[in-house]
Amino acid sequence: MSEISADQSEREQKLIEDVLASFGQTPDARLKSVLESLVRHLHGFLRETRLTEQEWGRAIGFLTAAGHITDERRQEFVLLSDVLGASMQTIAINNEAYANATEATVLGPFFVEGAPEIEQGGDLSFGAAGQPCWVEGSVRDTQGKPLPGALLEIWECDQDGFYDVQYAGEDRTAARGRLRADEAGEFRFWALTPVPYPIPHDGPVGALLAATSRSPMRAPHLHFLVKAPQMRTLITHIFVEGEELRKGDAVFGVKESLVRQFEQQAAGTPTPDGRDLGAGDWARVRFEIVLAPADA
Ligand code: BEZ
Ligand code: FE
Repeated sequence: MSEISADQSEREQKLIEDVLASFGQTPDARLKSVLESLVRHLHGFLRETRLTEQEWGRAIGFLTAAGHITDERRQEFVLLSDVLGASMQTIAINNEAYANATEATVLGPFFVEGAPEIEQGGDLSFGAAGQPCWVEGSVRDTQGKPLPGALLEIWECDQDGFYDVQYAGEDRTAARGRLRADEAGEFRFWALTPVPYPIPHDGPVGALLAATSRSPMRAPHLHFLVKAPQMRTLITHIFVEGEELRKGDAVFGVKESLVRQFEQQAAGTPTPDGRDLGAGDWARVRFEIVLAPADA
């Protein structure tokens, strides 16, 4: 903190105490303690940076712009939380490490409830463009016991880096689906090999990234949401090992344990299910998913 007089410091401290006292009668104890902490940290930030009134005005303007661009399809505040690492910090706090359970990462704004159900071995690309990718794996508990019937929701962008919901004016479902693990807790399906893509950066969060020389790119990934009775719901990705991964990730979502080798297969290589891909190449990957107990 820059040098300020004792009188000035006392004045600033008194204000914090007044604000804290104003929340003193909050009946909900958790709400009270969260607000008190917020007040302490917010005022600490204002005092530490000696924020100018003009800067505070710009901050308000930034949040106002984030509100204006937000609607049912666009959530700028979640993006802000993502690029500040607040989403990943909240996930870290709430998905405590447990034995060999698979690590969690960001949900992102493109998950959609009610994606179409596919059969084992089905194709969730639904015509979205991209390199076909065979994905297989298992869902187990931390003792290695298979979890038959576990629900897997999977979603990703197409080869142009867009999720289906980003195509304005189209009501198309593509590159997303849900399926259930079989009796052995195994799953297999066709998807697309993930590609890098930018998070939406045409709004205030994009301006923040540009002003700080940060890239909006996400490391290539495939989203998973996995549920099974009595188990902690897992929201995660697998990341494609390779050059693109090393360029970093705008939302701090990458975990070493989630990086997988997507093995490239030359055109003509027989596919696991006999599917004829003609002259096209394809890729394959395996992902062993381990769920923590719900009460972990
Ligand atoms: C995503 O992976 O879909 C995503 C995550 C955070 C921000 C934007 C997109
Ligand atoms: Fe994504």
